[in-house]
Amino acid sequence: MSDIKEELSAYSLEFNARLAEFFPLTAQPEHRVVEAMKYSVTNGGKRLRPFLVYESAKLFGLDFEESLRTAVALECLHSYSLIHDDLPAMDNDDMRRGKPTCHKAYDEATAILAGDGLLTYAFEILSQEKTHPSAQVRINLIECLSNAAGAFSGMVAGQMLDLYAEKTTEKTSDNLVKHIEEMKTGRLIRYACEAGAILGNAQEEEKNSLINYARKIGIAFQIADDILDVEGNPQLVGKKLNKDSAQGKATFVSLYGLDKAKQMEQDYIAEAKECLEQVFGIKSTTLQNLADFIIYRNY
Ligand code: IPE
Ligand code: IPE
Ligand code: MG
Ligand code: MG
Ligand code: MG
Repeated sequence: MSDIKEELSAYSLEFNARLAEFFPLTAQPEHRVVEAMKYSVTNGGKRLRPFLVYESAKLFGLDFEESLRTAVALECLHSYSLIHDDLPAMDNDDMRRGKPTCHKAYDEATAILAGDGLLTYAFEILSQEKTHPSAQVRINLIECLSNAAGAFSGMVAGQMLDLYAEKTTEKTSDNLVKHIEEMKTGRLIRYACEAGAILGNAQEEEKNSLINYARKIGIAFQIADDILDVEGNPQLVGKKLNKDSAQGKATFVSLYGLDKAKQMEQDYIAEAKECLEQVFGIKSTTLQNLADFIIYRNY
């Protein structure tokens, strides 16, 4: 476990060192929004999604540099989703990654724009030739991310359902909760692995194996987040806790209780590792260890 934590933090160091170059600041007054974007992206974060892009692409022989821009694009998109998730109209949170949320550090209007800026910037980065020499590959990366982030069955749809479930008086079903978790969190995690497969020109079987792995770790990741909201240490987690029950969120914990939720996340992780092992064998050891980290993490 400590090895995978070290691998992830070594990657994060390298990734963070390169991130600043994507946010050049000038003295123009409109650059307040770029400052807010930079504040939110460079402000901590585990960098799990970028690491997943890197490790998935590595299965096909790509190196850090060759997957970096796709990883940065995804982290921009993820950070936008966090800025908007924290807004008063959504989860109304004051702390994120151990620092004041974007709307607290700046103001609400700037936070909305910073989110918009990061969302669009993700696609600009992907569209540029430096991301991959093949235009077809870049289009595939863009199409896949739009779908994963979007309103039909992507992150935005998941966030809508999360808010709906919070307000409805209907009894929440296990299908509804699974569907929320799969979309609001699972789709971007899945994109990380799909992007690796697209960059690496994976065979169908390899791509499916990565997608199945990602779907399972995606749900497990959100169950772990829901558990941390109840049992975590706020200093380590970097956000205010016990918010889900206060806001009446539908989560695996609210539906099944802590013990069953813990059992379920373990089952998902075991299945995720199996999916990779069958197709990639020993080459996928880091991704398999990362699956364990997803549920044993305390931040
Ligand atoms: C938090 O994601 C939001 C969820 C999808 C649960 P992370 O826990 O990956 O947040 P950072 O990027 O490390 O801050
Ligand atoms: C947020 O889920 C998922 C997205 C931002 C898309 P949560 O609302 O549970 O995330 P936290 O707990 O605020 O990080
Ligand atoms: Mg939320
Ligand atoms: Mg939230
Ligand atoms: Mg949460």
